[in-house]
Amino acid sequence: MPAFATFARARRSLGPRTAVVLGSGLGGATAAFAERASVDFRNVPGLVLPSVQGHGGRLAVGTWAGVPALLFLGRLHFYEGLPWSVITGTVRVAAKLGATRIVLTNAAGGIHPALAPGGLMAIREHIKLLQPNSWRELASSGGPSGPYSRRLLELMQAHEARAGCELLAGVYAALTGPSYETPAEIRALAACGADAVGMSTAIEAEEAARLGLEVAAISCITNKAAGLSAAPLDHAEVLANAQLSVGRMGELLGRLIATPLRE
Ligand code: HPA
Repeated sequence: MPAFATFARARRSLGPRTAVVLGSGLGGATAAFAERASVDFRNVPGLVLPSVQGHGGRLAVGTWAGVPALLFLGRLHFYEGLPWSVITGTVRVAAKLGATRIVLTNAAGGIHPALAPGGLMAIREHIKLLQPNSWRELASSGGPSGPYSRRLLELMQAHEARAGCELLAGVYAALTGPSYETPAEIRALAACGADAVGMSTAIEAEEAARLGLEVAAISCITNKAAGLSAAPLDHAEVLANAQLSVGRMGELLGRLIATPLRE
């Protein structure tokens, strides 16, 4: 039986309504996930295989602490040379497979002084510093408060507060990559109000909101952004530091998945 058909049968029997996209090196956040079936992105109509190390490119269905969930292990990026219409495929596939809520995660550099490696930031808003006119969907920014659900933001903060942590709800600056920023660019981003910087999520969030999904997004801070620490930045360090927060990230994801769907 073709891989997708097996996956699709498990998906139909479980009926997951929440999808999670796990970014760079965050696959370790899935301790509570019991996989029922999975399929490589290349066998999913509407997806292609990512080329970046640390991004598996697998779509799984199963239960997260008993609650059905869809899990995208890996994502596609603009810097892989892909158009936005392909990158946002994950979001459309999630919607087509019945998800009404999506949680996007990423690895990001911390700009806000409180955001150090191992930290998390719930995304409240974003700044898109992407190639001009590279995203042509209209009315996709998600309305006056943007694509991110206020309800899920508050829920994440309350969850972290119960665990004695403060979860910053911050502004994510989305750049195209693939190179990291210059220290001057980071100072400019800080002056523009950005709290963290990365190379994904913003367009996926907008596409998800356009499709009517409830959206939450979490940045896993893997490094201080360029110029804010003496350590040089590289992808291996980003992947290694992602492990510092996968446990806490996993707890937060479980809480979101277990939360009743929006009315
Ligand atoms: N900049 C951009 N993207 C990133 C970073 C960063 O510092 N860290 C992880 N992804």
